[in-house]
Amino acid sequence: HKKLKDFPADFFWGASTSAYQVEGAWNEAGKGLSVMDVGNHPEDVADFKVASDHYHHYKEDIALMAEMGFKTYRFSIAWTRIFPEGMGKINQQGIDFYNSLINELLKYNIEPLVTIYHFDLPLALKEKGGWTNRDTIAAFVNYAEILFEEYGDRVKYWLTINEQNMMILHGNAFGLLDDDSKDIKQELYQSNHLMLVAQAKVFNLYHQKVKNGKIGPAPNIISIYPASSKPEDILAANNYSAIRNWLYLDAAVFGRYNATAWSFMQEKNITPQLKSNDLKILKAGKPDFIAFNYYTTATVAEDFKAEAENRFKGDQQIVDNEPGLYRRQQNEYLAETEFGWEIDPVGFRTTLREIYSRYNLPLIVTENGLGAYDKLEAEDTINDDYRINYLRSHLKQLQLALTDGVEVFGYCPWSAIDLVSTHQGINKRYGFIYVDRDEFDLKDLRRIRKKSFYWYKNVIATNGQEL
Ligand code: BG6
Repeated sequence: HKKLKDFPADFFWGASTSAYQVEGAWNEAGKGLSVMDVGNHPEDVADFKVASDHYHHYKEDIALMAEMGFKTYRFSIAWTRIFPEGMGKINQQGIDFYNSLINELLKYNIEPLVTIYHFDLPLALKEKGGWTNRDTIAAFVNYAEILFEEYGDRVKYWLTINEQNMMILHGNAFGLLDDDSKDIKQELYQSNHLMLVAQAKVFNLYHQKVKNGKIGPAPNIISIYPASSKPEDILAANNYSAIRNWLYLDAAVFGRYNATAWSFMQEKNITPQLKSNDLKILKAGKPDFIAFNYYTTATVAEDFKAEAENRFKGDQQIVDNEPGLYRRQQNEYLAETEFGWEIDPVGFRTTLREIYSRYNLPLIVTENGLGAYDKLEAEDTINDDYRINYLRSHLKQLQLALTDGVEVFGYCPWSAIDLVSTHQGINKRYGFIYVDRDEFDLKDLRRIRKKSFYWYKNVIATNGQEL
């Protein structure tokens, strides 16, 4: 029996949300429109206009987080509350809202962990080309600078861009480009490049301005398994890792393009256009830690097809391939969630080790969790044992990774409270706190503690001794 290392005494236990998925108040208090407010969202599920109405309930919500014993709360700032047009005029009411929210957290000694940009690009910027337009770099840097000036005295942990890799890999799922844009891949990798440059500039700016704070990237990183021990499958897994994971983190940490990912872009004729200073800027920006989101692993085999194939079963993409490089497939050893996401706690340990050994920076898990159709039962109970099981099994693996020597300083599962999922509505729930509403019936938006709420409270109280 292995002797396990304890969770560090000052471990950041918490949970996460993002502004557009939880706040609501989409057109209140001077907020401008983001791509999420107008996106081509599926019609059979809730949009983001009201969401969990956290904008009006944040005090109550934070009190519940404090009751669970949160040491940290990861949330994002809506760019369009601060700059309704993405740049230019500042909206004081937006500044005030996050001041109140941050102060409310500090009242309970909860450390704010702030994502600067979580999918909700200002519409005004998108209309000028979004991340294909170099001016967006300056807009992002300026926005970040204002955040550092306004909140930097109290916010000591910052995340630049949430899941940049998912925004690039999933075509237009996050509203980056116009759907009819012809050469979408080239534009996506151009956008990716500008985001990387913008991020590096923000790392640099932050370190120049603030001495006692930390900043890092927040991609979605997962171990990639070969479907078999066939060498071509191993190569396919290696290809996918480079394109899905290392492209993003090598740029963020080492300030350079991953060679395999770069040659992939060359082969497909989708390399970004670089300006002479870009690589110097990438090199100059350094993160203090790596935050990453983990839900599952991916299994890939070699791919012979000449054409990309994107087949869906409902909302679930069942074929995902890059011709000649990899073809994603199911893993026969793994169980799945109700939404068809494979559940792989051991893969979490592997992923933690892989990231740490590659970059040697402290890690924080900024998302991990299980989406499910929770049922509100008699006497306001939600018996989400499946969520407890998911989180417990992942925390056990996190503790094993700590024991393996990986430096992890926090765990923030998705999500603190129920919120609207990216494409599947409010009834794909992730929270410890239930929000009483349906897709189209807002009901009373009452907050109800789930069974997992009490479980997590005890995990935190025992610093992970009782999982
Ligand atoms: C991550 C995102 O991709 O996964 C979150 O950062 C998202 O914004 C979460 O909500 C769960 O995905 P989904 O599609 O179920 O909402």
